[in-house]
Amino acid sequence: MKRLIAILTVALAFSLTACGNTRGNSSATENSNSQSSTNSTSSGSSSAPTSSTNNSSEQGSQSESSTAPDNNDSSNILIAYFTAAENSGVDAVASASYSMVNGEPVGRLRAIANMIQTETGGDLFSIRTSVVYPADISELIDYAAEEQREDVRPELTSHIDDLDKYDTIFVGYPNWWADLPQVMYSFFDEYDFSGKTIIPFNVHNGSRLSGTVNTIKELEPNANVATDAFTINERNVPDAAAEVKEWLGGLEY
Ligand SMILES: Cc1cc2nc3c(=O)[nH]c(=O)nc-3n(C[C@H](O)[C@H](O)[C@H](O)COP(=O)(O)O)c2cc1C
Repeated sequence: MKRLIAILTVALAFSLTACGNTRGNSSATENSNSQSSTNSTSSGSSSAPTSSTNNSSEQGSQSESSTAPDNNDSSNILIAYFTAAENSGVDAVASASYSMVNGEPVGRLRAIANMIQTETGGDLFSIRTSVVYPADISELIDYAAEEQREDVRPELTSHIDDLDKYDTIFVGYPNWWADLPQVMYSFFDEYDFSGKTIIPFNVHNGSRLSGTVNTIKELEPNANVATDAFTINERNVPDAAAEVKEWLGGLEY
């Protein structure tokens, strides 16, 4: 049933926005070019985002209620994110996986991560996998469906160097088939965030969080998972900076 709802949702969402991405490249492959492993935190760069509306009962972004974690010094904050743009091995300008933010192509989750970094000063961490996801959006959608059906746990090629250093982990991911992308399951398999605060943020195309905050709670039962997760429609990403700032203010960051 969940699968049926997801399919209908995605079909609707993509029928509204699907862009004919022609660029060749496609079938995801294990272990190819892509990014190297181990590294992780980068502090730096950022950009700012755009905005408009969403689907039905909610608008723009935001989400559920609030769990205000203690204020932290930025050295305790990690901003981990997964974006297709940094895992598809395709050039930025051509790819539908990128948004133009402040005149530069950037993965949508990275754009939001950058905004969070601007406000909190935390370290950025790009979740990378050896899977090279299809650059073509329809092929990616099919590929991700198969990955979910098979409950695949893609191999991670980036790893957090010093998890002990961080008390607060912002975790960003796109909604894929009304769920976390499978690579996020790999991520939560790899780390034990017991005693830490996890603050989810998400980009979607209509389905918002789809229950993923509860899924994260199940995957990290001993972490303090903030229920006031940030969620925003992909169309609004380029103009999201003010909204991100307001959300963080509510969390006392
Ligand atoms: C494989 C795949 C499945 C998706 N499934 C959904 C979905 O079920 N619901 C939804 O609202 N958006 C869905 N989307 C849209 C993405 O959540 C949205 O495009 C997001 O901005 C992607 O972030 P990224 O470009 O940084 O990876 C899907 C996108 C992809 C590529």
